[in-house]
Amino acid sequence: MEVAGKVVVVTGAASGIGCALASRFSELGAKVVISDVNSDGVALVASRLGALGVTTDVGDAAAVDALVAAATAEYGPVDIFCSNAGYSDPQTAGLTGSVEDYQRIVDVNLLAHVWAAKAVVPSMVERGGGYLLQTISSASLITGPSAPGYTLTKHGALGFAEWVTLNYGHLGVRVSCLCPNAVYTGMFGLEAGDISSTPPDMGALGEVMKSSDVANFTIDAMMTTEPFLVLPHTRVADSFLRKATNYDEWIAGTRRRLLKMRQEQ
Ligand SMILES: NC(=O)c1ccc[n+]([C@@H]2O[C@H](COP(=O)([O-])OP(=O)(O)OC[C@H]3O[C@@H](n4cnc5c(N)ncnc54)[C@H](O)[C@@H]3O)[C@@H](O)[C@H]2O)c1
Repeated sequence: MEVAGKVVVVTGAASGIGCALASRFSELGAKVVISDVNSDGVALVASRLGALGVTTDVGDAAAVDALVAAATAEYGPVDIFCSNAGYSDPQTAGLTGSVEDYQRIVDVNLLAHVWAAKAVVPSMVERGGGYLLQTISSASLITGPSAPGYTLTKHGALGFAEWVTLNYGHLGVRVSCLCPNAVYTGMFGLEAGDISSTPPDMGALGEVMKSSDVANFTIDAMMTTEPFLVLPHTRVADSFLRKATNYDEWIAGTRRRLLKMRQEQ
Protein backbone atom coordinates (compact mmCIF):
# COMPACT_ATOMS: atom_id res chain seq x y z
CA MET A 1 0.00 0.00 0.00
CA GLU A 2 1.20 3.51 -0.84
CA VAL A 3 0.64 6.09 1.90
CA ALA A 4 1.63 9.43 0.34
CA GLY A 5 -1.44 11.47 -0.56
CA LYS A 6 -3.87 9.03 1.10
CA VAL A 7 -6.66 10.30 3.38
CA VAL A 8 -6.11 8.72 6.79
CA VAL A 9 -8.37 9.03 9.85
CA VAL A 10 -6.95 8.02 13.24
CA THR A 11 -9.19 7.79 16.30
CA GLY A 12 -7.71 8.08 19.79
CA ALA A 13 -4.98 10.17 18.13
CA ALA A 14 -4.42 12.62 21.00
CA SER A 15 -2.22 10.12 22.84
CA GLY A 16 -0.13 6.97 22.72
CA ILE A 17 -0.40 4.56 19.78
CA GLY A 18 -2.93 6.71 17.88
CA CYS A 19 -0.74 9.80 18.16
CA ALA A 20 2.26 7.77 16.96
CA LEU A 21 0.31 6.31 14.00
CA ALA A 22 -0.91 9.78 12.99
CA SER A 23 2.62 11.23 13.28
CA ARG A 24 4.12 8.46 11.09
CA PHE A 25 1.35 8.70 8.46
CA SER A 26 1.89 12.46 8.37
CA GLU A 27 5.70 12.03 7.93
CA LEU A 28 4.96 9.71 4.99
CA GLY A 29 2.89 12.40 3.24
CA ALA A 30 -0.68 11.29 4.06
CA LYS A 31 -3.55 13.75 4.64
CA VAL A 32 -4.26 12.95 8.27
CA VAL A 33 -7.36 13.55 10.38
CA ILE A 34 -6.77 13.58 14.14
CA SER A 35 -9.76 12.44 16.13
CA ASP A 36 -10.21 11.91 19.85
CA VAL A 37 -12.76 12.52 22.61
CA ASN A 38 -10.15 14.79 24.27
CA SER A 39 -10.67 18.09 22.42
CA ASP A 40 -7.56 19.82 23.88
CA GLY A 41 -5.47 16.84 22.79
CA VAL A 42 -7.02 16.95 19.30
CA ALA A 43 -6.16 20.65 18.95
CA LEU A 44 -2.57 20.10 20.15
CA VAL A 45 -1.74 17.11 17.92
CA ALA A 46 -3.59 18.52 14.89
CA SER A 47 -1.70 21.81 15.08
CA ARG A 48 1.63 20.01 15.61
CA LEU A 49 1.07 17.90 12.48
CA GLY A 50 -0.76 20.54 10.41
CA ALA A 51 -3.70 18.13 10.25
CA LEU A 52 -7.48 18.44 10.48
CA GLY A 53 -8.71 17.84 14.04
CA VAL A 54 -12.21 16.53 14.85
CA THR A 55 -13.41 15.86 18.41
CA THR A 56 -15.33 12.56 18.39
CA ASP A 57 -16.68 10.07 20.90
CA VAL A 58 -16.26 6.83 18.93
CA GLY A 59 -18.88 5.11 21.10
CA ASP A 60 -21.51 7.28 19.37
CA ALA A 61 -22.39 6.00 15.86
CA ALA A 62 -23.68 9.41 14.70
CA ALA A 63 -20.43 11.07 15.82
CA VAL A 64 -18.38 8.54 13.81
CA ASP A 65 -20.54 9.32 10.73
CA ALA A 66 -19.92 13.03 11.34
CA LEU A 67 -16.15 12.40 11.62
CA VAL A 68 -16.09 10.61 8.25
CA ALA A 69 -18.21 13.39 6.70
CA ALA A 70 -15.80 16.07 8.02
CA ALA A 71 -12.75 14.16 6.74
CA THR A 72 -14.36 13.67 3.32
CA ALA A 73 -15.39 17.33 3.07
CA GLU A 74 -11.84 18.49 3.85
CA TYR A 75 -9.66 15.98 1.97
CA GLY A 76 -11.90 13.59 -0.04
CA PRO A 77 -13.01 10.00 0.64
CA VAL A 78 -11.25 8.11 3.43
CA ASP A 79 -8.61 5.64 2.18
CA ILE A 80 -7.35 4.35 5.53
CA PHE A 81 -9.39 4.33 8.74
CA CYS A 82 -7.45 3.56 11.92
CA SER A 83 -9.98 2.54 14.55
CA ASN A 84 -7.63 2.89 17.49
CA ALA A 85 -9.40 4.64 20.40
CA GLY A 86 -9.94 2.50 23.46
CA TYR A 87 -9.44 2.27 27.19
CA SER A 88 -8.86 -0.30 29.90
CA ASP A 89 -11.42 -0.75 32.65
CA PRO A 90 -10.03 -1.75 36.05
CA GLN A 91 -13.51 -1.01 37.45
CA THR A 92 -14.80 -4.33 36.07
CA ALA A 93 -11.93 -6.40 37.54
CA GLY A 94 -13.04 -9.16 39.91
CA LEU A 95 -16.50 -9.23 38.25
CA THR A 96 -17.33 -5.82 39.70
CA GLY A 97 -18.59 -2.88 37.65
CA SER A 98 -22.07 -1.68 36.83
CA VAL A 99 -24.24 -2.32 33.78
CA GLU A 100 -23.18 1.16 32.61
CA ASP A 101 -19.47 0.28 32.99
CA TYR A 102 -19.89 -2.76 30.72
CA GLN A 103 -22.12 -0.92 28.24
CA ARG A 104 -19.60 1.91 27.92
CA ILE A 105 -16.61 -0.32 27.22
CA VAL A 106 -18.65 -2.32 24.69
CA ASP A 107 -19.56 0.96 22.95
CA VAL A 108 -15.99 2.29 22.84
CA ASN A 109 -13.78 -0.81 22.46
CA LEU A 110 -16.09 -2.96 20.34
CA LEU A 111 -19.01 -1.21 18.63
CA ALA A 112 -16.82 1.73 17.53
CA HIS A 113 -15.17 -0.67 15.04
CA VAL A 114 -18.62 -1.49 13.65
CA TRP A 115 -19.61 2.20 13.34
CA ALA A 116 -16.32 2.93 11.55
CA ALA A 117 -16.77 0.06 9.09
CA LYS A 118 -20.39 1.08 8.39
CA ALA A 119 -19.23 4.64 7.72
CA VAL A 120 -16.34 3.90 5.35
CA VAL A 121 -16.59 0.42 3.80
CA PRO A 122 -19.40 1.19 1.26
CA SER A 123 -17.41 4.08 -0.22
CA MET A 124 -14.21 1.98 -0.21
CA VAL A 125 -16.02 -0.78 -2.14
CA GLU A 126 -17.39 1.79 -4.61
CA ARG A 127 -13.85 3.11 -5.23
CA GLY A 128 -12.29 -0.36 -5.53
CA GLY A 129 -10.61 -0.57 -2.13
CA GLY A 130 -9.44 0.87 1.15
CA TYR A 131 -7.78 -0.13 4.38
CA LEU A 132 -9.09 -0.63 7.93
CA LEU A 133 -6.50 -0.73 10.69
CA GLN A 134 -8.06 -1.92 13.95
CA THR A 135 -6.01 -1.38 17.10
CA ILE A 136 -7.12 -4.31 19.21
CA SER A 137 -4.76 -6.00 21.70
CA SER A 138 -2.95 -9.22 22.45
CA ALA A 139 -5.82 -9.66 24.96
CA SER A 140 -7.96 -10.68 21.95
CA LEU A 141 -5.72 -13.66 21.15
CA ILE A 142 -4.33 -14.65 24.53
CA THR A 143 -6.37 -13.60 27.56
CA GLY A 144 -4.08 -11.97 30.13
CA PRO A 145 -4.31 -9.87 33.28
CA SER A 146 -6.82 -7.32 31.88
CA ALA A 147 -10.30 -6.89 33.38
CA PRO A 148 -13.29 -8.76 31.88
CA GLY A 149 -14.75 -5.75 30.05
CA TYR A 150 -11.48 -5.18 28.20
CA THR A 151 -11.01 -8.89 27.50
CA LEU A 152 -14.47 -9.49 26.05
CA THR A 153 -14.50 -6.34 23.91
CA LYS A 154 -11.07 -7.09 22.42
CA HIS A 155 -12.09 -10.68 21.59
CA GLY A 156 -15.26 -9.33 19.96
CA ALA A 157 -13.32 -6.73 17.98
CA LEU A 158 -11.08 -9.44 16.51
CA GLY A 159 -14.13 -11.52 15.55
CA PHE A 160 -15.70 -8.52 13.83
CA ALA A 161 -12.47 -7.78 11.94
CA GLU A 162 -12.36 -11.41 10.72
CA TRP A 163 -15.95 -11.02 9.51
CA VAL A 164 -15.12 -7.83 7.59
CA THR A 165 -12.06 -9.29 5.88
CA LEU A 166 -13.90 -12.51 4.96
CA ASN A 167 -16.82 -10.59 3.45
CA TYR A 168 -15.10 -7.57 1.90
CA GLY A 169 -11.51 -8.68 1.18
CA HIS A 170 -12.41 -9.75 -2.36
CA LEU A 171 -13.81 -6.24 -2.95
CA GLY A 172 -10.47 -4.61 -2.13
CA VAL A 173 -11.03 -3.77 1.54
CA ARG A 174 -7.90 -4.75 3.47
CA VAL A 175 -8.01 -5.26 7.24
CA SER A 176 -5.10 -5.39 9.66
CA CYS A 177 -5.47 -5.91 13.41
CA LEU A 178 -2.75 -4.43 15.56
CA CYS A 179 -2.53 -6.70 18.62
CA PRO A 180 0.29 -5.45 20.82
CA ASN A 181 1.15 -6.52 24.33
CA ALA A 182 2.37 -3.76 26.68
CA VAL A 183 3.05 -0.34 25.12
CA TYR A 184 4.16 2.73 27.12
CA THR A 185 1.22 5.16 26.62
CA GLY A 186 -1.44 7.05 28.53
CA MET A 187 -2.67 3.63 29.72
CA PHE A 188 0.51 3.47 31.81
CA GLY A 189 0.37 7.12 32.89
CA LEU A 190 2.48 8.61 30.08
CA GLU A 191 1.55 12.17 29.15
CA ALA A 192 -0.64 12.60 26.02
CA GLY A 193 1.46 13.45 22.97
CA ASP A 194 4.61 11.70 24.29
CA ILE A 195 5.23 8.78 21.92
CA SER A 196 8.92 8.08 22.39
CA SER A 197 9.92 8.20 26.07
CA THR A 198 11.82 5.11 27.21
CA PRO A 199 9.47 2.80 29.15
CA PRO A 200 10.40 2.00 32.76
CA ASP A 201 10.94 -1.62 33.84
CA MET A 202 7.43 -3.04 34.46
CA GLY A 203 8.57 -6.36 35.92
CA ALA A 204 6.23 -9.24 35.14
CA LEU A 205 4.73 -7.40 32.16
CA GLY A 206 7.93 -8.13 30.23
CA GLU A 207 9.00 -6.03 27.24
CA VAL A 208 7.14 -2.72 27.10
CA MET A 209 7.40 -1.00 23.71
CA LYS A 210 7.40 2.69 22.78
CA SER A 211 4.33 3.72 20.77
CA SER A 212 6.55 5.26 18.07
CA ASP A 213 8.19 1.83 17.51
CA VAL A 214 4.77 0.13 17.41
CA ALA A 215 3.51 2.66 14.84
CA ASN A 216 6.59 2.28 12.61
CA PHE A 217 6.32 -1.53 12.78
CA THR A 218 2.59 -1.42 11.93
CA ILE A 219 2.79 1.00 9.01
CA ASP A 220 5.80 -0.87 7.55
CA ALA A 221 3.68 -4.05 7.66
CA MET A 222 0.73 -2.26 6.00
CA MET A 223 3.03 -0.97 3.25
CA THR A 224 4.56 -4.38 2.54
CA THR A 225 2.84 -7.65 3.45
CA GLU A 226 -0.56 -6.23 4.58
CA PRO A 227 -0.97 -8.97 7.20
CA PHE A 228 -4.27 -9.60 9.00
CA LEU A 229 -2.43 -9.76 12.35
CA VAL A 230 0.22 -7.21 13.24
CA LEU A 231 2.15 -8.51 16.26
CA PRO A 232 4.95 -6.18 17.36
CA HIS A 233 5.77 -8.39 20.40
CA THR A 234 6.99 -11.81 19.20
CA ARG A 235 5.95 -13.43 22.51
CA VAL A 236 2.29 -12.92 21.52
CA ALA A 237 2.62 -15.12 18.41
CA ASP A 238 4.47 -17.76 20.48
CA SER A 239 1.75 -17.84 23.12
CA PHE A 240 -1.07 -17.84 20.51
CA LEU A 241 0.58 -20.86 18.87
CA ARG A 242 0.82 -22.68 22.24
CA LYS A 243 -2.87 -21.94 22.83
CA ALA A 244 -3.90 -23.28 19.41
CA THR A 245 -1.76 -26.39 19.85
CA ASN A 246 -3.00 -27.34 23.33
CA TYR A 247 -5.72 -25.06 24.71
CA ASP A 248 -6.03 -26.80 28.12
CA GLU A 249 -2.29 -26.74 28.74
CA TRP A 250 -2.18 -23.06 27.74
CA ILE A 251 -5.04 -22.26 30.18
CA ALA A 252 -3.28 -24.09 33.03
CA GLY A 253 0.02 -22.29 32.36
CA THR A 254 -1.61 -18.87 32.01
CA ARG A 255 -3.63 -19.43 35.21
CA ARG A 256 -0.38 -20.12 37.10
CA ARG A 257 1.27 -17.03 35.59
CA LEU A 258 -1.67 -14.74 36.51
CA LEU A 259 -1.78 -16.07 40.09
CA LYS A 260 1.95 -15.38 40.43
CA MET A 261 1.52 -11.86 39.01
CA ARG A 262 -1.28 -11.14 41.53
CA GLN A 263 0.82 -12.46 44.44
CA GLU A 264 3.71 -10.19 43.42
CA GLN A 265 1.48 -7.06 43.20
N1 LIG B 1 -0.87 0.57 25.86
C1 LIG B 1 -0.96 -0.76 25.77
O1 LIG B 1 -0.23 -1.51 26.46
C2 LIG B 1 -1.93 -1.37 24.80
C3 LIG B 1 -1.81 -2.73 24.53
C4 LIG B 1 -2.70 -3.33 23.65
C5 LIG B 1 -3.67 -2.57 23.03
N2 LIG B 1 -3.78 -1.25 23.31
C6 LIG B 1 -4.85 -0.50 22.63
O2 LIG B 1 -4.30 0.61 21.96
C7 LIG B 1 -5.32 1.60 21.77
C8 LIG B 1 -4.74 2.95 22.10
O3 LIG B 1 -4.44 2.98 23.49
P1 LIG B 1 -3.11 3.64 24.07
O4 LIG B 1 -2.36 2.59 24.77
O5 LIG B 1 -2.45 4.46 23.03
O6 LIG B 1 -3.75 4.53 25.22
P2 LIG B 1 -3.85 6.11 25.45
O7 LIG B 1 -4.68 6.25 26.66
O8 LIG B 1 -2.49 6.72 25.41
O9 LIG B 1 -4.66 6.62 24.17
C9 LIG B 1 -6.01 6.31 23.96
C10 LIG B 1 -6.71 7.53 23.37
O10 LIG B 1 -8.06 7.14 23.09
C11 LIG B 1 -8.89 8.23 23.46
N3 LIG B 1 -10.25 7.76 23.72
C12 LIG B 1 -10.69 7.03 24.79
N4 LIG B 1 -12.03 6.87 24.69
C13 LIG B 1 -12.41 7.47 23.54
C14 LIG B 1 -13.67 7.65 22.91
N5 LIG B 1 -14.81 7.20 23.46
N6 LIG B 1 -13.71 8.30 21.72
C15 LIG B 1 -12.57 8.79 21.17
N7 LIG B 1 -11.36 8.70 21.74
C16 LIG B 1 -11.30 8.05 22.92
C17 LIG B 1 -8.26 8.80 24.71
O11 LIG B 1 -8.68 10.14 24.95
C18 LIG B 1 -6.78 8.70 24.36
O12 LIG B 1 -6.32 9.90 23.74
C19 LIG B 1 -6.50 1.15 22.62
O13 LIG B 1 -7.50 0.56 21.81
C20 LIG B 1 -5.89 0.12 23.55
O14 LIG B 1 -6.82 -0.83 24.01
C21 LIG B 1 -2.93 -0.63 24.17
